[in-house]
Amino acid sequence: MDALKRQAAARALEHVTDGMRLGLGTGSTARHFVDLLGEKVAGGLRVIGVPTSEVTRAQAEACGIPLTTLDEIDHLDLTVDGADECDHALNLIKGGGGALLREKIVAAASDRMIVIADDSKWVDALGRFPLPVEVIPFGLAATQRAIARAFAQNGVSGQMGVRKGKDGHVFVTDGGHWIVDAHLGRIGDAPRLAEALSLIPGVVEHGLFIGLARTVVLAGADGIRVIERR
Ligand code: A5P
Repeated sequence: MDALKRQAAARALEHVTDGMRLGLGTGSTARHFVDLLGEKVAGGLRVIGVPTSEVTRAQAEACGIPLTTLDEIDHLDLTVDGADECDHALNLIKGGGGALLREKIVAAASDRMIVIADDSKWVDALGRFPLPVEVIPFGLAATQRAIARAFAQNGVSGQMGVRKGKDGHVFVTDGGHWIVDAHLGRIGDAPRLAEALSLIPGVVEHGLFIGLARTVVLAGADGIRVIERR
């Protein structure tokens, strides 16, 4: 599986050219991309990156990739990031690693987003992977009730729980927020649910990435498939 992730990362790297401003994703697949990009930078490629998490920032710095922020530059040429699920419209679930907020800000500021993944992430319908919803701790129960209502109005339901870290404590995002993971099974209309979740006070962001990915590079046992959004 790790070899497949690296293959997808290597293929995405072919889209990187000298002078590009890059969004650097988070997760075990994006980690390979940053690693390979670091090798290119060491070989003389000139790029500048905006990391989507503190973990990626630390990795990129260690690899010698020059970094900037979205305050210093007005847009990015390309973001390369992983995904937890991708459907045939190239809508995604992201946030399994907890970095969904910065990942979405960075993707939205990019001319193009390439998703890199092994082919287990390719699904007919989103929702088998628990949907992460990043929330403000204040008023958590009220926010969860509003989320449950939005689910019901969009024909989905399932268990919700506040994410815990490996240490058993509540997982806190880079932005200081919490994450509610919702086990929905199958999301019939992901764009509609995304809009409904975005309207809830207390929801900072959610893991449905609608219309952001332009290209998906999927690595599987039979090779690499590149799928473009129609
Ligand atoms: C991080 O918050 C996520 O959005 C990741 O991009 C996603 O979870 C994919 O991670 P892996 O590449 O580790 O599967």
